[in-house]
Amino acid sequence: MEKTKTLLEMDRKTVFHASTHLKQYADGDLPGRIISSGSGIRITDSEGTELIDGFAGLYCVNIGYGRTEMAEAIHEQAKQLAYYHTYVGHTNEALVTLSQRIINKAPDGMSKVYYGMSGSDANETQLKLVWYYNNVRDLPQKKKIISRDRGYHGSSIASGSMTGLPLFHAHFDLPLERIKHTIAPYYYRREDDQMSEQEFSIHCAQKLEEMILAEGPDTVAAMIGEPVLGTGGIVPPPEGYWQEIRKVLDKYDILLIADEVVCGFGRLGAEFGSIYYDMKPDLITVAKGLTSAYQPLSGVIVGERVWKVLEDGTDQWGAIGHGYTYSGHPMGAAAALCNLDIIDGENLVGNAKDTGAYLQQRMHQVFSNHPMVGDSRGIGLLHALEFSPSPQTRSHFDPNLKVGPQIAAACLEEGLIARAMPHGDILGFAPPLVITKAEVNTVVAKAERAVNKVMDKLVSSGDWKP
Ligand SMILES: Cc1ncc(COP(=O)(O)O)c(C=O)c1O
Repeated sequence: MEKTKTLLEMDRKTVFHASTHLKQYADGDLPGRIISSGSGIRITDSEGTELIDGFAGLYCVNIGYGRTEMAEAIHEQAKQLAYYHTYVGHTNEALVTLSQRIINKAPDGMSKVYYGMSGSDANETQLKLVWYYNNVRDLPQKKKIISRDRGYHGSSIASGSMTGLPLFHAHFDLPLERIKHTIAPYYYRREDDQMSEQEFSIHCAQKLEEMILAEGPDTVAAMIGEPVLGTGGIVPPPEGYWQEIRKVLDKYDILLIADEVVCGFGRLGAEFGSIYYDMKPDLITVAKGLTSAYQPLSGVIVGERVWKVLEDGTDQWGAIGHGYTYSGHPMGAAAALCNLDIIDGENLVGNAKDTGAYLQQRMHQVFSNHPMVGDSRGIGLLHALEFSPSPQTRSHFDPNLKVGPQIAAACLEEGLIARAMPHGDILGFAPPLVITKAEVNTVVAKAERAVNKVMDKLVSSGDWKP
């Protein structure tokens, strides 16, 4: 107790936390929590409180917490070779093995992997590669990137610009001029109720085409998208969406970057979201599930068509001017290899499919007709509940009521971490891929109690009438 208090006081004085109200935290008006250990789908804090982590950290601890095999793999690598750079042809055994393994798992046509430390830096690399690609092709005007409203691609300057959430732009002078946003494939929030999913997909593709024509096709280089929108609300695409999008991109010689930071390595019950949705991307971003966050590691998987052009560029201009000290770090590679061994050995992609289907079914059973749930949606081990005061009309709660955060807080009281998504009253679930059906039942029961608790509170305070 005393130690927790002292550490938290020091923390408030010295640590700059991500996504936090800085003043409230520094003043002690926001609670802090020291996470001390984890095992399976559970974490424990410094006061001994155990919580089910229904969001796998930030949808990344896919193999679950406390895997000693991972600790051993990292330890062995550290003893043998903790670091050497990968500039000018230097490599290490773990990295070579890992790269071959990623290419084998990736969709057809993928050729090489470049490594970074985070999803954000990998998406920065994507942009540089796309710009370089069109310079090599002597198309210096073709540089704009189209992303989507509600997309999430990171929070650095370029990746934060590609992110389509106002919180990440406002007061940071973003997005950059070259980055545009088209509509989100958000079927639940479609304007025209009469549209089928397929019609809505065609509508999204038409909007994209209108934007390309308005900007000038010879100025648009690439589109970036997550197979399933993640942080923007966990929104699987409507039927046929990626096929319609791909048609438009092909028509105007525009590359497709699949941001698989969340979906890659099994979360949807398939190795990659772009395989599941047959996206045929030219470039792929991976991070999170690559190491299950036991080491920071991200990757840019470059397709053959882009790779050939990059090679030509170096013929013209010499070595490519891109590289990080920690690109291809052996500790990250060793962690990724062990992580992929666990995913394959325990058939966690299969578990994400089967137990994921069970999660979807249980959530639908409990929440589809719930008086304050407008939408219960998901795929694999990703699920979202979107709250509405009137599910028939899909209206919104008053944002001042902070219904999403209230429900996330009620879940915590039940010993469950679920994430209040940053835009709208949406509660997200993305448990570790090792979750069992019995544990799914526990998660759903806790979520149900939390939602009902907040519903009762809203009714008794007079803030809402069902
Ligand atoms: C789809 C997607 N891309 C990129 C990122 C950024 O990754 P990082 O936070 O490691 O920079 C995230 C993070 O949540 C993400 O969900």
